[in-house]
Amino acid sequence: MYYIGISAYYHESSVFLTNNKDVNCFLKEESFSRIKGDKNFPKRSLNFLIEKFNLKNENIQFMSFYEKPFKTWWEIFYFSMKNPIQNKDFLINHLKNFNKGSIFFYTDINKLIKIPKNKIIYSSHHLSHCLYGATVVKNFSEYAFVTCDGVGEGETMSIYTIDNELNIKKIWTNFYPNSLGLFYSTVTDFLGFEINEGESKVMSLSSFGKPLYEKELRKIFDINNFQINMDYFEFHKNPSKSFSKKLCEVFGEPYLNINDEENFTKYADIASSAQLILELAMKNLIQKAIKLSGKKKIVLTGGVALNCKMIHSLSKQNIFEELIVPPSPGDSGSSIGAANFAYLHHKKTKTLDFNTIFLGPKKEIINQKINMDNLFSKINLTDDFLNDATSKLIEGEIVASYYGPTEVGPRSLGNTSIFCDAKNKDAVNNLNLNLKKRNHFQPLAPILLNEDFNRYFSINKNIIRNLDWMGALCDANQELYNKYSSIIHIDGTCRTQIIKDKNSLTYKVLENLKKKGSDILVNTSFNISKDPVVFDLFDVYVNMKRMNIKFILMDNGFYQTKDV
Ligand SMILES: [Fe+2]
Repeated sequence: MYYIGISAYYHESSVFLTNNKDVNCFLKEESFSRIKGDKNFPKRSLNFLIEKFNLKNENIQFMSFYEKPFKTWWEIFYFSMKNPIQNKDFLINHLKNFNKGSIFFYTDINKLIKIPKNKIIYSSHHLSHCLYGATVVKNFSEYAFVTCDGVGEGETMSIYTIDNELNIKKIWTNFYPNSLGLFYSTVTDFLGFEINEGESKVMSLSSFGKPLYEKELRKIFDINNFQINMDYFEFHKNPSKSFSKKLCEVFGEPYLNINDEENFTKYADIASSAQLILELAMKNLIQKAIKLSGKKKIVLTGGVALNCKMIHSLSKQNIFEELIVPPSPGDSGSSIGAANFAYLHHKKTKTLDFNTIFLGPKKEIINQKINMDNLFSKINLTDDFLNDATSKLIEGEIVASYYGPTEVGPRSLGNTSIFCDAKNKDAVNNLNLNLKKRNHFQPLAPILLNEDFNRYFSINKNIIRNLDWMGALCDANQELYNKYSSIIHIDGTCRTQIIKDKNSLTYKVLENLKKKGSDILVNTSFNISKDPVVFDLFDVYVNMKRMNIKFILMDNGFYQTKDV
């Protein structure tokens, strides 16, 4: 029997199906629609599951939505009605979109598959984050589960515990509009980056600046009581504007051209100041969680948890024994949390438990109807295709990877990636600036074998688990500066991923690479900036042509694109 979780209507929509045995299938709607961050009801993803797994009422145990639709709608309505004149634009927009929201979840489901109402259950927003977090730790009674995001069902921060009998307790909550996530998103918007997409750019940019605006920002976000001063914001009044004129009095002109040197320095200082406030507030939140729960181990979820610079900074302050941020802490990972809610609802004494972080479909399942011979030709330079691929990497070529099951979360972890030899400065720069069209201040991430990690990097043990999925920063050692300086960020850190699974193709590639004199690859997601990561072989082909990547490593061989 299958358990299905769905996250939709607000951020990246996703679906997760599992039987908690041999079938796990995580899908994002953007993979099918090719709209980055697609938030619509995930009908394409569900249709894929209906077809591949022959889904019907008889083999579905429960289907769970990641939050409570009416509560979500009501919380925003209720807040806006406190000051209807001031918030009228926001309120009108909210009422106008009533029929596009999650209130019609059951109707949307029934257009695709007939399921009785008693099989549809509703988790709650932060509980779904928490229950996703519970799938990545074994002894969850040892952990406090902390969530920090923009807002969900009117909540912006939560602390949960789960005991050995699976009693879940919410021990503290902070409420909208006092949102650390929306504070950081507003600064992201002010600097001219897209909300929900540009926060990682602000994080990278912050390393170039000094926190010159700390004093002012402390008045805007109270890091001790997690209170926001709404005079500086408009996200509660206006659906298309996040900050008020008052914030411009602090920072000056918004949306300046960051390529201008003077603007770059100023914006880096603003980013640095916002980053500092984020880190100070999160330190206080985690200390609060430790105090209230009595647990010294933390699982952190919610979109704010994606800020790996913050995780790095917290790891050095000796406030926790362990901090884990699962691979997809934002709302798209909450479909897994919702499926866990469904599983728990049925089993009562068990939660979902995976021994992999690759919960997406295998590439052969995605491409059952596509004839790859029309698009790609096999390269047989030697009788060992891994040898062919690593030879090309050593020669300075950029090589795409497309094998194994697909990743969960915003980061490609080797199975759907673009690689180049980290030693080759030209290849690294070409990949970053020309192919991926990233900003010069955004570093690329290294990937290497677990056994080589200590030679090149240092990290505090309390966050080491996150290296399996590129969820934390580490410090570069001297040997990394000597051999691989082009992958080190200005602050001396790298967002490193380590590979432990000796059966994975990525492990074999890195092992083979070592024989040829290099032991670190650059690993970046297989997409062009602002596009979703590739999903099927047609996406692969089109993206390779657009980025002018000639070579690709797949499950059963090394290929190049054909001209069609
Ligand atoms: Fe959330």
